[in-house]
Amino acid sequence: MNEINFDLIDTTGEPPVSEPERQYYYIAKCRELVKLKSKELGRPLYSQTRTFGCQMNARDSEKLIGILEQIGYIETETATPDFVLYNTCTVRENANLKVYGHLGYLKKQKEKNKNMMIALCGCMMQEETVVEKIKSSYRFVDLVFGTHNIYKLAELIYDRLTYNKPVIEILKDTDAIVEELPIERKYPFKSGVNIMFGCNNFCSYCIVPYVRGRERSRKPEDIIKEIEKLVADGVVEIMLLGQNVNSYGKNLDEEITFAELLRRVEQIEGLKRIRFMTSHPKDLSDELIEVMKHSKKICKQLHLPLQSGSSRILKIMNRQYDKDRYVSLAKKIRQEIPDIALSTDIIVGFPGETEEDFLETLDVVNQIEYDSAYTFIYSKRTGTPAAKMENQVPEDVIKDRFDRLLARIHEISNAQTLKHVGKTYDVLVEEVNEHNKELVTGRMSNGSLVHFKGGKELIGNIVNVTLNEAKGFYYLGTMEE
Ligand code: 5AD
Ligand code: SF4
Repeated sequence: MNEINFDLIDTTGEPPVSEPERQYYYIAKCRELVKLKSKELGRPLYSQTRTFGCQMNARDSEKLIGILEQIGYIETETATPDFVLYNTCTVRENANLKVYGHLGYLKKQKEKNKNMMIALCGCMMQEETVVEKIKSSYRFVDLVFGTHNIYKLAELIYDRLTYNKPVIEILKDTDAIVEELPIERKYPFKSGVNIMFGCNNFCSYCIVPYVRGRERSRKPEDIIKEIEKLVADGVVEIMLLGQNVNSYGKNLDEEITFAELLRRVEQIEGLKRIRFMTSHPKDLSDELIEVMKHSKKICKQLHLPLQSGSSRILKIMNRQYDKDRYVSLAKKIRQEIPDIALSTDIIVGFPGETEEDFLETLDVVNQIEYDSAYTFIYSKRTGTPAAKMENQVPEDVIKDRFDRLLARIHEISNAQTLKHVGKTYDVLVEEVNEHNKELVTGRMSNGSLVHFKGGKELIGNIVNVTLNEAKGFYYLGTMEE
C-alpha cells in the first residue's frame, strides 16, 4: 500500500486501464507536476482536508489524504493551503449550509493565493441541485466529484492541472471497489475499516441511499488482509464500517453473515478491540448476539438506531420493524450482554408525528434507558419520499418535543454513567488531554471517555483505570499499576 515508490513508476506511456495501476500512474504524474511547482515557488505545497459528517466520511478522508501525500502535498492545519478539499455530508440540511458558509470564506482566500485549488467531494456532491448551484454561483471551485470516484482523486487533479478548466465528475452509482490505494491514518493505534458501501433500505426520510448508491460488500479476505496489515502497523482497535453492517455479505458470490465475519476478524492475532457501526434493528440476528456475548475483543457497545418509538411512524419511515420488535430486541441484548452500552439515533418531527407518536418514542427511551442517544430534528431532504409528505410538523411543536426528549435522555444517561463509578475498566489511551497536559484521555470498551493522570508514552496502550467520578460526558479516573 503506502510502501509503493511512486518515483519509480513509468509515466512516459499511456495510462493503464485497470485499477489501481491507473491511479498509481496518475499519482506519479501529479507528483512530477507538484515537484515542479514547488521548485518554482521555492517551498513545499500544502493541502488542507476538512471532513463533514460520519465515520464513513472520516475514513474516506484518510484515503484522500493518503493520495494527496503521495502526490507530494503536505497536509496542514496551519499553513495557507495550495489545495483545499472539503469532503461533504448531506444527511441533514444544516450540513449543506455549513459547506456553503465555508465556500464564501474560501473565495476570499483564493483571491489572496492564486495558486490555490479548491475541491469538493462526498455525499452533498451527489445531489444534482448542489452541483448546479456550484456551477452557477461558486465558479472558483476547481474540482467536484462524488462518493463513487474518490479513488480517482489523482486522475482528476491531473485533468484539472492539464486542461486548466474546472473538472466535474459525478457518477450515479458504481460496482467498483478499488483496493490497495494509499491511506494516511489519523491515529496510529486505531482505524476504521470499510466492510461495505451504500445502503438499500430507503428509509423514507433518508438521502443516503441516493448519494451512496446500492449496497456492496467487500470480500472477507480483503477485509482480513487489510486488518492484518493494520495490526502489523501498530493498530490495536478497529471499527468495521457500513451503513447497515447487519446485511453484510448478502450480495457476495459466496454469502457470509456479519456474525461470521466478526468470528474471523476475532482470530487476528494482535488485534485487541473490535467495534462496528451501524446496525439496523431489522437485520440484527441472534447469531450476532451470540458472537458478541462470547467474544473477547468485540467492544461492549452497540448503536441501535430507533428513529421513532411509534409503530405507525416507523411504518411510514419504512424501517421494517415496529415498537414491540425493537423493544424486545433491545431488552434481549441487555439481558444477554449485561454490561453493554446501548446508544441510538432518534428523529423528532417526522411528517405527521403527533403528540401520541412522540410519547411512544419517550416510552421506548424510558424502557431501554440508553447509555447515550443522538437526537435529530427531522430535516426535509429533496428527492426522498418524506419530503413530499404534506403534514410537516410546525417548528415550535418540534422544538418543544426535542427539548423534552433531550432532557429525559440526559437524566437517563447521567444515571447510567453513575453505575460504573468505583469500578475498574480496560482503557485504550488515545491522547494527551487538550486542557491539562498532566492528564491523558482514553476510551473504555463501552465507548465512554475517561481522563486520568499519565504521560504521552501511554498512547496506544490498553491500561486499567478505576473510575472516581462521573462528569456527564466523561469520567475522571486513576490508572492502576
Ligand atoms: N432528518 C433528520 N435526521 C436524519 N437522519 C437521517 N436522515 C435524516 C433526516 N432527513 C439521522 C438518522 C440516522 C442518522 C445518521 O441521521 O437518525 O440514523
Ligand atoms: Fe439512511 Fe435508513 Fe440506510 Fe440508515 S438504513 S443510511 S437511515 S436509508
